[in-house]
This record gives sequence, C-alpha cells and structure tokens, in this order.
Amino acid sequence: MPSQAINTSSRTPQVDDAGRLKHFLTIEGLDKAQLLRLLDSASAFIGADTEKQKEQASLLEGHTVVNLFFEDSTRTRTTFEIAGKRLGAAVINLNPSRMSTRKGETVLDTVRTLEAMDTDIFVVRDHASGTAHLIARHVPPHVHIINAGDGRHAHPTQAMLDMYTIREHKGDISNLRFAIVGDILHSRVARSQIAALNLLGAREVRVIAPATLLPTEIERLGVTAFTDIDEGLKDIDVIMMLRLQLERMEGKLIPSTQEYFRCYGLNRVRLNRAAPGAVVMHPGPMNRGLEIASDVADSERSLILSQVTNGIAVRMAIMAQLVDAAGVQTA
Ligand code: CP
Repeated sequence: MPSQAINTSSRTPQVDDAGRLKHFLTIEGLDKAQLLRLLDSASAFIGADTEKQKEQASLLEGHTVVNLFFEDSTRTRTTFEIAGKRLGAAVINLNPSRMSTRKGETVLDTVRTLEAMDTDIFVVRDHASGTAHLIARHVPPHVHIINAGDGRHAHPTQAMLDMYTIREHKGDISNLRFAIVGDILHSRVARSQIAALNLLGAREVRVIAPATLLPTEIERLGVTAFTDIDEGLKDIDVIMMLRLQLERMEGKLIPSTQEYFRCYGLNRVRLNRAAPGAVVMHPGPMNRGLEIASDVADSERSLILSQVTNGIAVRMAIMAQLVDAAGVQTA
C-alpha cells in the first residue's frame, strides 16, 4: 500500500455522539458496557436454531462487505467472509496482488472507488499502523470500517473473540489471572488483549518476554512485566501465547529460535506451573516448536480452535451492530 501520513493519537471516530458504534477500530475508546453488549449479542449467533438462522441471514441483506487485506490472513479474512455471508451480505474478497494499488492508486482512492459500487462495510488489514483509522476519517456516514489488524497497533476483533472464548470456558474475567507470553513488542494482538482485559476488570494481567521483546514502559498499560516465564506463569489461569513475528524484527532480538523455545516456549512442564486447570490460547498462526510445543497446542487445555470458531459469531455480532441490526438478532 502506498504510505500516507497517519495520526492515531487523536480521538477515534468509532463511536458517534449518541454512543453508537460507527466503526470498529480499537478497543481503546470503547467502554465496558459496549464490550459486554457485543460479547452477549455474539452468543445469539452460536448454535442458533433453523428459524433463528433464517432471521439472522437477513440482517445484512442488501449490504456489501469488502475484505481489503493488504497483509496475509487465513482465519480473520475467512471468518469475516463466513460471518458476512451468514448475515446475508454480499462479500467481496480483494486480492492485493491483483489490485490497482500496485499501479500507484492510493488506499483512499481504492476505497472511494469501492464506495461507488455501494460497499457498506470495509474490513481492512494493513502493515501500517493507522490505516483503518485513516479510512474511517474519510468515508461517508453510512460506510463502516472494521480494523482487521494494522501494523503493530491493534487487532480488536481478535481481542473480542478471545474475550468471548475466555468467558465461554472460564467464566467471569474479573476472577482470572492472565499471562500474555512472547513477542509483545510486535504484537497488535497483545495491545488489544491488554486493553480488553483491563476494561473487563481482569484480576491481573502479566506480560512475559525477553527484555528485547518487551516495549519500554509496557507497565504503563496496566500490566506487570516478567522476563522469567517460570516465575511469570505462577497462579495464571489463562496463558495467551503470541507468535514470534520474525518478519517484523529489525536486527537480532533473540539469540536463536532454538534458544527462544528453550527459554520461552510453552511446554507441558511450564503449563503445570500455572494454576490448576489453566487454559492455553494462541491467536494463530502458530509456530509449533518455536513458541509452543505441539503436545500443548493439541492438548485438552488448548482453546486455539475454539478461538477460531468463535471468531465467526463475534464478527457477526460486530457487523450486525455496525449496521444497527443488533436489536433484531438478540430479540
Ligand atoms: N489471528 C489472526 O489474525 O490470524 P490470521 O493472520 O490468519 O488472520
């Protein structure tokens, strides 16, 4: 994507003056009630009976959703596609390697072009932090932008499906201790998870990583930082692993992938240091044998595939609420 000046520090335009969700860009800027409303409404999209499914299939009838992914994705793009189709929308997946941005068209001109084709919702992923915000500031009021991951900044729908999955398997978030483990420095997922966990009143949030992969002043976000994983996992109820993002690393931040796994990889022994019944999450894609051992990833304690499944319902709830159809599906 051609680069354009981005400013994500000013107030996000995701909520209108009446407090209604216009875009879904970051967890920051939302309040606890808004998060809970979305999580509760997502439940209606799981295991709905045939009658309910028919009702849900008309919620986005006549709407067009464009998946605009300038970065690779398997689960986010696909679950948005399934979610949009289950709500009755026409869903278009654009392939950036075949788009006119390669000929110099800006992302805003691309969006304006697609708007002229009556697109209602853009789901945007980009390597640059702030792209979804930039687009949201330039679209007319009837168009909604969903951030599907921007650089190192935010991945709010991932955080929402994680919160949904935790509540489903472990109950009230305020009773639980969390550890986010791995490449915090490059992780948009970690930033959105921290914001969501704090908003929902998590009992404790820790981040665990080598010092080179911990952002400076991370504790200002309301977390406790550990560089020793064995110490950091003590009493933890939910372990949220992160992928080592080698493609975003400039310079050598870890001695070697083997040493990283030895010092920070989640294996059975380490899992047993956490609280009894602790569960393991990973947003995917995961590197088996690098940040997580296969037997842990595939174990009965792993919620990794539940996270994927729940992504559909949570993304349905977000899209339904953006087009203000949420009252229908929860009725
Ligand atoms: N968790 C996540 O964003 O995965 P994808 O890159 O496959 O979408």
